[in-house]
Amino acid sequence: MDSNALKQIAAEAALGYIKPGMVVGVGTGSTTNLFIDALGKAKIHVEGYVASSVATETRLKGLGLPVLNLNDTGDIPIYVDGADEVDPHFRLIKGGGGALTREKIVASAARLFVCIADGSKDKPMLGKFPLPVEVIPFARSFVARQLVKLGGNPSLRAGVTTDNGNVILDVTGLDLTDPVTMESRINLIPGVLDNGIFAQRRADVLLFGTPQGVVERRA
Ligand code: A5P
Repeated sequence: MDSNALKQIAAEAALGYIKPGMVVGVGTGSTTNLFIDALGKAKIHVEGYVASSVATETRLKGLGLPVLNLNDTGDIPIYVDGADEVDPHFRLIKGGGGALTREKIVASAARLFVCIADGSKDKPMLGKFPLPVEVIPFARSFVARQLVKLGGNPSLRAGVTTDNGNVILDVTGLDLTDPVTMESRINLIPGVLDNGIFAQRRADVLLFGTPQGVVERRA
């Protein structure tokens, strides 16, 4: 099975968590796109979807699925999204698609975070994938210097502006043995909007697509 097929079975498994009448938070990325397409086919009568990016909102609307504004909803029962890396403690690196800030907001507003991924994202620890950090453009150079002081090697993601009008620094070399602390330390740098470590709001359920089928883990 190629990685797309593994993403597909993970995305389809997440449908089992979607019940009629729910508000559903929807992430961003290629795995989530497969989930959205599966939702389009499944025709479950949910109350609506809260999108974590403009791209996701456009895809949902393109399939005729109802999109809600986060400011018009209360707590969201469930959030479904992919990840770039997942550790054994359900902590994630996200933001390969640049949508990390809204993803973290919607994930934090949700009671249950179901993470869907192909099995290659299952890692013994976080840190190989360059950590995306969303930065206000005015502060780009200052923030980059602070990230170097934290042991990182930041590089500007060329040609990318986020849905919030900001830039992304992709940072290699950080020591993520304590991801909870590093998540906070990076976010304390003035000019950082958020970073792609999801250690304080971790996933609750993992659905990994593997050649042997979907492996489900619960925190
Ligand atoms: C988007 O900003 C990301 O957080 C994605 O959820 C993550 O990069 C996983 O993407 P894929 O599903 O495309 O691998």
